[in-house]
Amino acid sequence: MAESFSVGVVGSGYVGLVTGACLAHIGHRVACVDKNEALVDQLREGRMPIYEPGLEDLVSRSVNRGRLSFTTSLPEVVRDSDVVFIAVDTPQGDDGSADLGSVAAVARSIGGALAGAQRKHPLVVVNKSTVPVGSGDYVSMLIREGAAENDEGDVDYRVVSNPEFLREGSAVYDSFFPDRIVLGSEGRDALDTMRELYKPLIEQTFPTEMDPRPRAAVPFVTTDLASAEMIKYAANAFLATKISFINEIANVCELVGADVSSVATGIGLDARIGSRFLNPGIGWGGSCFPKDVSALRSIAREYDYEPTLLDSVVSVNERQRRRVISKLQHDLHTLKGKRVALLGLAFKPNTDDIREAPSLEIARALVTRGARVVGYDPVAGKAAARRLPDLKVVFDPHEALSGAHAAVVVTEWEDIRGLDLKEASSLMEPPKLLVDGRNALDAASARDAGLLYRGFGRE
Ligand SMILES: NC(=O)c1ccc[n+]([C@@H]2O[C@H](COP(=O)([O-])OP(=O)(O)OC[C@H]3O[C@@H](n4cnc5c(N)ncnc54)[C@H](O)[C@@H]3O)[C@@H](O)[C@H]2O)c1
Repeated sequence: MAESFSVGVVGSGYVGLVTGACLAHIGHRVACVDKNEALVDQLREGRMPIYEPGLEDLVSRSVNRGRLSFTTSLPEVVRDSDVVFIAVDTPQGDDGSADLGSVAAVARSIGGALAGAQRKHPLVVVNKSTVPVGSGDYVSMLIREGAAENDEGDVDYRVVSNPEFLREGSAVYDSFFPDRIVLGSEGRDALDTMRELYKPLIEQTFPTEMDPRPRAAVPFVTTDLASAEMIKYAANAFLATKISFINEIANVCELVGADVSSVATGIGLDARIGSRFLNPGIGWGGSCFPKDVSALRSIAREYDYEPTLLDSVVSVNERQRRRVISKLQHDLHTLKGKRVALLGLAFKPNTDDIREAPSLEIARALVTRGARVVGYDPVAGKAAARRLPDLKVVFDPHEALSGAHAAVVVTEWEDIRGLDLKEASSLMEPPKLLVDGRNALDAASARDAGLLYRGFGRE
């Protein structure tokens, strides 16, 4: 039986809430903290503030077992915890670097709460937020300063970096079955505590109905603070690079008459390359890739290093968005007075997250050019409507398609992949253009249904 810890998780968004619920499920006592009172009230009432498959059930089970609670009171949680995770937002700042305002506020408060506390063991402060290299030391300094503001210079804590790799849309699954757990610290004792905390995950010994396959141990990578922080940025930058790479290849395929789907299959079978993240289309967006690639470029420039490759990865991505508009203009000629349906608004399927969603950028570009834009999403519609009042949001794909001269597949939700293309075609106005921004539909079936199909990198 693994040891059970008292854990605090500060920030109850996509990462904090899922992490807290997962740690409670594997046997720890977890208090999730958030400064947003409405969000905490909602959680206490059993309502999820975000859409994430499997989360509501996981949360309610742990709450019913008395292992998971929600609060706005950080000091109380710090005093009662062995380990405190920081999982607050680190958005892109005006200059492109990561804005550490939320992390800094939490670190100071932790210092304040630690001041004068009698502890048996040092508090392990775990940074799960994605932060620039050196943030571990920064957090450490702010904890000391927070304590000093309360007349207490000598507080006992260790700082650990534990980058998070979960994917929105499968965050619960990813938390239980991670490819690896990365921990960075300058001290052995904190890493030992973390190994014990994560033992049920590392050894895959927790109860689950999610994955009946025999479960192999999860690699546990320990390193120094700076390397752990860098691993997160390098991972996201690599994935963004892979997508921009296949988009560049797709654009050349269109010119030479090759089919990028076959090319992706052919290169992806090479084990050195791998088949994932080789789907061409409108490019990457979301709450992580754009800000993390931007932060990494910013870090490089701080050291007078020109991140040429990363700069190009971003340029290719920006061009992919413009290619959607060009494809529409090619067949519709003028966009003024045309009705365009955006199928899918979330930045990817199975989430309600619209942060840096390609749909918003495409909708803005279309509205500026005089088009009427109607968007459909099974989950993210309301959030998108709040962000973009010029976008008419409907809650049925057929309503979006009705009277549309063109439709763009922006997010490949299952119901959009499974659209009855004949029915779609019957609802649309000529030229019945379908721009498949994710190469998610079958081109031949779309053409048979009477649609003017345009994919990316293929006929
Ligand atoms: N979303 C993802 O898929 C993902 C994946 C890996 C890593 N990350 C990283 O994890 C971090 C959190 O991301 P997220 O998507 O969960 O963010 P989020 O915006 O969904 O949630 C952050 C939460 O922190 C709360 N918060 C902010 N300041 C606070 C404070 N001082 N005290 C208490 N609560 C506070 C906010 O109210 C909010 O609820 C970011 O650094 C992000 O880059 C995110």
